[in-house]
Amino acid sequence: MEIMGLEGDYFKDRGGKLTDADEGRYAVTHEASDMNRFVVPNLRNIELTGPYFHDGSVKTLDEAVRKMARYQTPDQNISDQDVADIVAFLKTLTGRYDGKLLTNSNPAAK
Ligand code: HEM
Repeated sequence: MEIMGLEGDYFKDRGGKLTDADEGRYAVTHEASDMNRFVVPNLRNIELTGPYFHDGSVKTLDEAVRKMARYQTPDQNISDQDVADIVAFLKTLTGRYDGKLLTNSNPAAK
C-alpha cells in the first residue's frame, strides 16, 4: 500500500470535496501514516477497467499514466512518447478467455 500523492498533492490538484474514500487505509487503521494510502493495484486487464483510481476520477489510461508520473514518481512530466510506450505496454496485459481477447462493453469503462 502506498500514499497517493508521494511527489505532489493529488487531492488538492484534483479539487472537489474530500470524501471518506479519499482517506484510504486510514479509514480502517486510524494511523496518521495511513492517510491517503491505497493498495497499489494489479494492472492486469487495466485497459478495460476504467475509470481509474479509488475515486474513479480519470477516464483514460493515458491520463492515469500521466498522473502516476506526476504524483508518484520524481520524473513528474514524462514525454508523450513515454506515455504512449507505457500505455502500449499496459495494453499487452489484457488477457484472453476461451481464446478470445477480453473486452468490456460497459460504457462506464470507456
Ligand atoms: C510509470 C509508472 C507507473 C504506472 C504506469 C502506473 C500505473 C497505474 C495505473 C494505470 C493505476 C490505476 C489503476 C486502477 O485504477 O485500477 C495506478 C494506481 C496506483 N498506483 Fe501507479 N503507476 C506507476 C507508478 C506508481 C508508483 C511509483 C507508485 C507508488 C510508489 C504507484 C502507486 C499507485 C497507487 C497507490 C495506485 C492507486 C491510487 C488510487 O486508487 O487512488 N504507482 N497506477
